[in-house]
Amino acid sequence: MKVYTEKQQIVAAIDKFKAENKILGLVPTMGALHEGHLALVQKALENNDYVVVSIFVNPTQFDNKEDLVKYPRNLERDLELLKTLDENKILVYAPTVDDIYCGKTESEKFNFDGLEFEMEGKFRPGHFDGVGTIVKRFFDIIKPDNAYFGEKDFQQLQIIKKLVEKYHIPVNIIPCPIHREESGLAMSSRNTRLKPEYLEAAPFIYNTLNSAKVHFGTKSADIVTQWVESQFESHDLLKLEYFIIADTTTLKTVKHKTNNKEYRAFIAVYADDIRLIDNIALN
Ligand code: PAF
Repeated sequence: MKVYTEKQQIVAAIDKFKAENKILGLVPTMGALHEGHLALVQKALENNDYVVVSIFVNPTQFDNKEDLVKYPRNLERDLELLKTLDENKILVYAPTVDDIYCGKTESEKFNFDGLEFEMEGKFRPGHFDGVGTIVKRFFDIIKPDNAYFGEKDFQQLQIIKKLVEKYHIPVNIIPCPIHREESGLAMSSRNTRLKPEYLEAAPFIYNTLNSAKVHFGTKSADIVTQWVESQFESHDLLKLEYFIIADTTTLKTVKHKTNNKEYRAFIAVYADDIRLIDNIALN
């Protein structure tokens, strides 16, 4: 498994594969890898000749400076974990901020047809411009045939599909299901920062999503939303930022249910100063 820190070097390696008509997968990550990431890499390994795993904590997608500073980083451990897979087919790209941003650490501005103004977009201004900037840059550098994204960041996934459509980028976006701890807590690099009492409390998020799904079978989106809000009002440790039932394609909050639409419930919760997100398909 080779680790590249410079664009030119990885581009040279990729050019060689492309000349041999090899199929290339990309799994973009911000490191602090967990089983969810490894499942993405494993899936990519099954469907591509080579897989690039990028490990880069992208500063432009953090609306909160402290979150960026505290974001877990452990390259050595990440590399050890990747070595447990078919490492001969993996290339790691772990660039510096300068290698990516060349002294100008700024986002491009995107129009994602309104997807960027819902949910995370409301609470994390500029976040999706940062995500769009880095993912577009990775697509440009690595030119993957297939790129893998987890459904935990479902809004991000929809936005990346939109990015690819708008810029006619020739890459297949492959969604991958959310990986969960046995407790039901969605796997996230941020979970490593949870203090024990918050780690114990956090599965409440997924349990509530599951109950919301059951209620949504017979009740309106408004009633279910109020019910979820009331569950968190009486919770000592977890603070709800939002719970929304939205149309899966437009991500707009549901006003009236119709039979032919697909819905998903989305949630963001603070556990201490750590922000956790999750979502669940409702039909
Ligand atoms: O989902 C993530 O970890 C990041 O948003 C991504 C896609 C790697 C871009 O920095």
